[in-house]
Amino acid sequence: MTNTKIAKPFLKWAGGKTQLISDIEKVLPSDITRLNFTYIEPFVGSGAVLFWMLNNFPNLKKAVINDINEDLINTYKTITTKAKELISILEILQHEFHNLEGNEDNKKLYYYQKRELYNLRQEETSGQAALFIFLNRTCFNGLYRVNRKNEYNVPMGGYKKPTICDKENILAVSNALQKVEILCGDFEQTLSYAEQNSLFYFDPPYKPLSETSSFNSYAKDEFNDNEQIRLKDFCSKLDTLNHYWILSNSDVKGKDINDTFFDDLYANFNIRRVSARRSINANPEKRGELTELLINNFTSDYIPILDDANKEMFTNFDKSYWVSKQNSPIDQVKIESN
Ligand SMILES: C[S@@+](CC[C@H](N)C(=O)[O-])C[C@H]1O[C@@H](n2cnc3c(N)ncnc32)[C@H](O)[C@@H]1O
Repeated sequence: MTNTKIAKPFLKWAGGKTQLISDIEKVLPSDITRLNFTYIEPFVGSGAVLFWMLNNFPNLKKAVINDINEDLINTYKTITTKAKELISILEILQHEFHNLEGNEDNKKLYYYQKRELYNLRQEETSGQAALFIFLNRTCFNGLYRVNRKNEYNVPMGGYKKPTICDKENILAVSNALQKVEILCGDFEQTLSYAEQNSLFYFDPPYKPLSETSSFNSYAKDEFNDNEQIRLKDFCSKLDTLNHYWILSNSDVKGKDINDTFFDDLYANFNIRRVSARRSINANPEKRGELTELLINNFTSDYIPILDDANKEMFTNFDKSYWVSKQNSPIDQVKIESN
């Protein structure tokens, strides 16, 4: 049977980047995607940008993905090499869980038994990957949170008959991952996989907007300010080596005008503020529009002209306006369709 379905992320993941893709598309370096290129994503998470790249860029000859979360990477590897085995375990889990619908106590008992089993980490790789997907689909808000002992501790979510086994998508993902090299470890190890024409996309755990607001503990080790600085040093190194990169992060200055942490850190690169919606906040009222940062080390064909000085000229329009960086006449301004 040929597999024609388009691969999409198989997990819910904090900071999933589906919302940001149209902004990322605008800053992509056109010269790189016209030629054969290597795509490298050192903080892959659920891979929203990875799958978009794999589906839309035929010149993407090779991709390299990495994450520090061993259980996540085991799941990627299992889908790549043992998709059918994984599907058969997921079908059993889905059948058993759906059969408990209507009995909250039994559903909970089942969920916490599977969570305990997952935390023992004694199943073989496909069983462990199936538990990982099961927990992701049935837990509260698709969170991945572990304690210091690397024990997953998210409570059950309130979903009725959630999809646990999306067979077509798992097969499509497995197919798409055949040209992807899958690594587990710190983001810096991806450097040795960069080739002549390489594009990196970094989506690190975001710097929290306040002590309590943001969620950034995907793994047992925290991604603090020193880690953000280490990442910037890595980006500078890539720049020196002439590799392209795009990075997203929270806009701490949007929250507190005096917080210039990223503006200072990336002062030598291009910083754009884009609007993005977050869905990880448990309180729906706090899930509103926020700005995020998109930073890169190259000038794209089009840059926004809406800086503070000329913003007023365009208040009658409701679309974003972009002009070529060589100061094109106004009649050549490109209007982005939303
Ligand atoms: C914001 S999430 C990425 C979200 C992803 N772009 C998506 O669409 O789902 C950040 C990821 O970085 C990983 N991570 C944290 N510290 C890391 C490190 N030092 N090296 C590599 N990955 C790390 C986390 O496990 C998490 O999956």
